[in-house]
Amino acid sequence: STPLRLGIAGLGTVGIGVVKIIQAHADLLAARAGRPVQITAICARDRQRNRDADLSGYDWVDRATDLATREDVDVVVELIGGDEGIAKDTMELALDNGKDVVTANKALLAIHGQALAERAEAAGRVIRFEAAVAGGIPVIKTMTESLAGNRIRRVMGVMNGTCNYILTRMQSAGLPYETVFEEARQLGYLEADPTLDVGGIDASHKLAILSSIAFGTRVAFDGVEIEGIERVSIDDINRAADMGYRIKLLGVAQMTARGLEQRMSPCLVPADSPLGQLEGGTNMVVIEGDAVGQIVLRGAGAGEGPTASAVLSDIIEIARGVRMPVFGQPAAGLASPQPARTAVP
Ligand code: NDP
Ligand code: HSE
Repeated sequence: STPLRLGIAGLGTVGIGVVKIIQAHADLLAARAGRPVQITAICARDRQRNRDADLSGYDWVDRATDLATREDVDVVVELIGGDEGIAKDTMELALDNGKDVVTANKALLAIHGQALAERAEAAGRVIRFEAAVAGGIPVIKTMTESLAGNRIRRVMGVMNGTCNYILTRMQSAGLPYETVFEEARQLGYLEADPTLDVGGIDASHKLAILSSIAFGTRVAFDGVEIEGIERVSIDDINRAADMGYRIKLLGVAQMTARGLEQRMSPCLVPADSPLGQLEGGTNMVVIEGDAVGQIVLRGAGAGEGPTASAVLSDIIEIARGVRMPVFGQPAAGLASPQPARTAVP
């Protein structure tokens, strides 16, 4: 049967994770996809860098945008990152050249998701982004597919592995911020600009994307009230622990009578609650649907294997011929949400 041919842009933590899974599980993936899944071309900045993977069978291209125009690429897998520049150019060119796109780039989708979705749908292409929210947790497919029969009331949770790692390690191991920050870097959790992590921006990108799917509205990152963890001190963490609480960077999105409320801020949660016990780079997403009630998803929110696992789920979906609209319903029909401003606690 006809193989699905991939062009992979970005060979960092996630890109190399994707290459490794495709190499290790070729037969399994072909069986599940109903056709072979092959990498034809790849791109990163530095060809000399040791990447701990055999890349000899693939064509290196000079620019990521070159992947978008190749005849032997069906799907461009964008794993570079950034809300402007090469990642955006590559995705746009790919769609314009009749390629589907898989990405983990929540920053780009949170800012330009509506325009990209309209562009994809006009071109009859799909963009899939399971890895963009909560890493390895299948939250996008849960909302767009498994909970498609529900009106979603609320989405909330811990959506940034770096912040959760920093807050829990500082508390449980009594380690200083700098040490645990470096550990998070070693684990591959950090964004290229880690201020996006600790400033709550990355988690807010994810919350805005989830809101769009949950409430059928355009992605409204501007409407998220954001407070990061930079001002959380070890004293705050210890005082919270003395009172039986943990501090978590918690995101909440709900449609209220006043409009769409989206909030990301450090919150006190009981130490013995599921949220309070969430450790390391783990994420937790809680979805409340009118028919199903409450669903709790928990798992690795960052890192090579978990994130690549989510990217592969999108690749397999495309290989199977599933053509869902980008945000679960046609982009042109998404309403512009009215933000409901609240005081951040
Ligand atoms: P890395 O920084 O580890 O990798 C980025 C890759 O992009 C590198 O291979 C880099 O090349 C390449 N790159 C950068 N600029 C260019 C360019 N101009 N042209 C071609 N290639 C370029 O990032 P991650 O793998 O961690 O993240 C990738 C994406 O996945 C981001 O959007 C991120 O937000 C998202 N993501 C990451 C997660 C994680 O746990 N790390 C989890 C979920 C999403 P070189 O190696 O030569 O420097
Ligand atoms: N920097 C992000 C995090 C990666 O720490 O959660 C996963 O999106």
